[in-house]
Formats: sequence, C-alpha cells, structure tokens
Amino acid sequence: MKTTGGTDDQKRRAAEAAVEAVEDGMVVGLGTGSTTAFAIRAIGDLVADGVDVRGVPTSFASRELARECDIPLVDLDDVDGIDVAIDGADQVAGDALVKGGGAAHAREKVVDAFADQFLVVADPSKTADVLSHPVPVEVLPSARTTVAAAVSDLGGDPTLRRAERKDGPVVTDNGNLVLDCDFGEMADPEALAASLSALPGAVEHGIFAGLADVVYVGTDDGVDVTE
Ligand code: 5RP
Repeated sequence: MKTTGGTDDQKRRAAEAAVEAVEDGMVVGLGTGSTTAFAIRAIGDLVADGVDVRGVPTSFASRELARECDIPLVDLDDVDGIDVAIDGADQVAGDALVKGGGAAHAREKVVDAFADQFLVVADPSKTADVLSHPVPVEVLPSARTTVAAAVSDLGGDPTLRRAERKDGPVVTDNGNLVLDCDFGEMADPEALAASLSALPGAVEHGIFAGLADVVYVGTDDGVDVTE
C-alpha cells in the first residue's frame, strides 16, 4: 500500500475521531488506504464490544482487512443505504478531494457518494489551498491510448501507473488500468471532473468535488475537524 507524508499517529487520530460517528445499527462504507485502515480497525473494536455494524468495503484490500477485524460485510446491492462512509484522500482542498492513490476510487466514489455522511480522514500532508495532485483516471484497457490523448487535449499530462514490485501496469479491482493525469493547479475541479466523466472509456476519475461532509485531519496533538 502506498505510504504518504503523514505519521501513523496523525492518521490514527483522524480515523478514530471519525469512527466516533459510527452508531449501533449502522451500515458503514469502508474506504481504502493506510488512514482508513485505522478506522477499519477501530470499527472492528466496536464490533468486538457488541456494537451492531455492517461494512460495505470499497476494495479487495478493505474487504480483507475488515474480514480480519471480524466486521460483518454486506454488498452495496444488499443495503437500502449507507449511514456513514469513512475514506482517505490524496489531497484535500475544502470539500474537494483527489482520491485514487490505491486505485480504488471507482468503487470508493459509488460508496462515498451514496452515504448519508461522507467522512474524510487525512493527515496534514494532504491539505492544500488548491487541488494540484495528479488525478487518477481508471480506464478500460482498450481505451488507454484514446483517453490519454483526450486528457492531453484537456491540458493534462497522463502517465500509466505501474506496479511497484512487478514489471507491468497496476490493474484495478475492476480489471482496468490507471492513468495518473497531472493538470497542475486545478482552478475549477468541478468543471474538470465533468470533462473527465464525459470521456468514452474513462470508467471513473479521482476528483471528488462537493461530496465530503466532514474532514478530519489528524495532527500531532489532536484532530482538526472541518464541516
Ligand atoms: C485509495 C484512496 C486512498 O484513500 C488515498 O490514496 C489515501 O490513502 P492513504 O490514507 O494511504 O494516504 O483514494 O484509492
């Protein structure tokens, strides 16, 4: 799993603060990444204490960790709603995020957008005034070249994400590829999000604009909460 500039203590503080919103009987969206992993473990502690929580995982990795923590799991198809989703981010500017560092943003966006409350957990290295992190775009393998050309036309610089320890591309849980698209500072992330969503062959992109309800940023001595 990708690591970031934040410390484990910062991530844990953010995650544990967000998990305070989880109540008995809730269906909880389980995001992906090293920060959300602390939240999944804290939810596992609630379950061990007898709290009735069902989790909807957003990736193979979050499913595996939730299983280890004995959290009862359900498919998105099988629930009427999600009360709370807890998920990390690669960059946070207000309520606009870039996600997808773990290549899980397609399922994450479905779960996070469907939740009544989407709680973002992050460390201070993720915060910015303006989004500038490269935007992951999950693409059908056959559309890699056409989407890359379209991203260039939109002013971006696309790079195929390669697996760290294997001589090949990252393949998502959905069997697709990821283009990391550098647009520099994004003055209008919502407009860029709409343009990327319109590209044939682009399955999902990592701009989450206007979806976050609360952002928890763990610091060295506490948690900054922005609603
Ligand atoms: C996965 C994501 C992650 O939430 C994001 O990459 C943050 O991960 P981490 O908490 O490990 O920094 O979007 O697709």
